[in-house]
Amino acid sequence: MTRMDIVEIKKIVPETPSIKTFYFNYDLDYVPGQFVMVWVPGVDEVPMSLSFDKDLKAITVRKIGEGTEALHGLDVGDRIGIRGPYGKGYELEGERVLAVVGGIGGASILPAVTKAVFKGQEVICALGARTLNELLFYDRFKELSEVHVATDDGSAGYHGFVTDIMEDLLKDIDLVITCGPELMMKRVFKIADNHDIPVQASLERYMKCGIGLCGSCVVDGLRVCVEGPVLKTEELRKLKEFGEYHRSPSGRKVSLKRPKLSY
Ligand SMILES: Cc1cc2nc3c(=O)[nH]c(=O)nc-3n(C[C@H](O)[C@H](O)[C@H](O)COP(=O)(O)OP(=O)(O)OC[C@H]3O[C@@H](n4cnc5c(N)ncnc54)[C@H](O)[C@@H]3O)c2cc1C
Ligand code: FES
Repeated sequence: MTRMDIVEIKKIVPETPSIKTFYFNYDLDYVPGQFVMVWVPGVDEVPMSLSFDKDLKAITVRKIGEGTEALHGLDVGDRIGIRGPYGKGYELEGERVLAVVGGIGGASILPAVTKAVFKGQEVICALGARTLNELLFYDRFKELSEVHVATDDGSAGYHGFVTDIMEDLLKDIDLVITCGPELMMKRVFKIADNHDIPVQASLERYMKCGIGLCGSCVVDGLRVCVEGPVLKTEELRKLKEFGEYHRSPSGRKVSLKRPKLSY
């Protein structure tokens, strides 16, 4: 579907100091992990995961730059454009699923966990955040699953990275799903792969068209907007750029290596 629908914002929920959820009516079926292109009139069009699937749909947005700041400035009754859903979501296989989440990655993972639990799968969640204040959807994950928390500053749960607590949670796990900073996901992939557990990770690349035409999201020949954003172990294994580079809007390679993992 490439048509854009203009929708009215029905409800706005502040989730953390930097994250808000925007609810709207949108008649669509989607697979958790799929995304929509969101047009903020007069500002920009940005990709966002769908974070809720009930009577109202929603996107959960971290304020980071011009487009997301403009979204955060909107009120109930304001309008945005939505096209999608696009891409491939999570394929929830097996009996026991471990979800490893970093920061805003909870927006993509929460509907997947909801669906898995609804299907009768057992889910364990490892949630990572910089600090307690930025821990996203803790109560919602807790309602659905066993939850473990790690924060960079030790203000909640384990003091350190969520990947540090992951290894202890892998017993009898059939599938690991993950969304968060790419360096975190690369580590999640390596740990799970060492235990021969399949991984599905949601990649972020710069997206302009969202439908496979412009090439801006291509990583090692694979269009993240079409073949992803959720990629499986076999695909992740082939990606030389996974955990190494992303690309700027002009296509320039930008190293992801930083001194520490940050949400
Ligand atoms: C499939 C997918 C799902 C996403 N889901 C969510 C979500 O649920 N919640 C959320 O808060 N964020 C999500 N993002 C990230 C979100 O799209 C960017 O944070 C947003 O586009 C930033 O726009 P900006 O104008 O505020 O920031 P800018 O100042 O323009 O850029 C800040 C950062 O955002 C990245 N960015 C900017 N424009 C785009 C773009 N068109 N495509 C990809 N990255 C971009 C830039 O590379 C830069 O690293 C998702 C990204 C992808 C690819
Ligand atoms: S965003 Fe244009 S090809 Fe993926």
